[in-house]
Amino acid sequence: MSTTIKRIGVMTSGGDSPGMNAAIRAVARACAYYNIQCVGFYRGFQGMIEGDYVEMDARSVRNIISRGGTILKSARSKEFLTSEGRKKAAVNLKEAKVDAMILIGGDGTFRGGQVFSQEHGIPVVGVPGTIDNDISGTDYTIGYDTALNTVVEAIDKIRDTASSHNRLFFVEVMGRDAGFIALNSGIGAGAEEILIPEEDLGLERLLHSLERSRKSGKTSSIVVVSEGDKIGKNVFELAEYVSKNLPDYDSKVTVLGHIQRGGSPSCFDRVLASRLCVKAVELLLEGKKNIMVGFVNNSIQDCTLENALKTKHNINKDLLKTSDILST
Ligand code: F6P
Repeated sequence: MSTTIKRIGVMTSGGDSPGMNAAIRAVARACAYYNIQCVGFYRGFQGMIEGDYVEMDARSVRNIISRGGTILKSARSKEFLTSEGRKKAAVNLKEAKVDAMILIGGDGTFRGGQVFSQEHGIPVVGVPGTIDNDISGTDYTIGYDTALNTVVEAIDKIRDTASSHNRLFFVEVMGRDAGFIALNSGIGAGAEEILIPEEDLGLERLLHSLERSRKSGKTSSIVVVSEGDKIGKNVFELAEYVSKNLPDYDSKVTVLGHIQRGGSPSCFDRVLASRLCVKAVELLLEGKKNIMVGFVNNSIQDCTLENALKTKHNINKDLLKTSDILST
């Protein structure tokens, strides 16, 4: 291992996700294992700009592996979008003697980190943490698995009441630009229809499918709608449209919202966060920079931040067919 890196900073940025604490813990513990110092910056890039940080050792991350949220807090810093903001952050890192940063977050975090590193020569490693799973270069992001389980648990409960009252429920789930949560939770919870941004199935098809379900003897139905769906109507307008066109249906809407971002992380997310962050520390010590660590084909791999940002993590469209077949 190289000896030029003596002190690593870590932060969490963007929308929080379950498993971020497990990730912070793994950074602090790996630093302790390799005998280097670790500092945690609060509120992502904003804490770097304000020099708001805390010294971390192996004991400062005790009992956090099971906790949702992030002990370092998270934010979306507008100031970091400016070169003055990034300069302030670089000055603060120098003063704090921080040699490299580990950035836990999504694509906005990586974009900021890439520009920062190019401008100020500070090595960064990105760790994908977002419930949306919309990062290229990794099959899974930290928090996605927990969010899926939260959604499935909620839809199971909705199904109980939907079937008691013979109702049609539209359940909106998160995923601003990506349908991973909707598609996989929809299949897992046995939804009749799944609407995602990647595939505009059209309103006619939705009506036709619901009509067919009704005729086949179904008395209640669940439609999972990704918040980024491009059908041209929000979930409330959608429910109204269906009620107008299929008056036999008694339609209700549930927006799951930020409940999907909270909660104790699943074992999968804890292990993923732990493995990715140990690797992130090791790669920095090997002299690597401006990369992202990911979980690909069951192993930990790295790619350049540039590649992670320029390609899209595509959903598996075969899953739409699976859902179609199973909702017969
Ligand atoms: O973390 C990503 C995400 O969960 C998106 O799916 C959602 O649109 C967004 O966060 C909302 O985040 P906030 O309310 O923090 O702006």
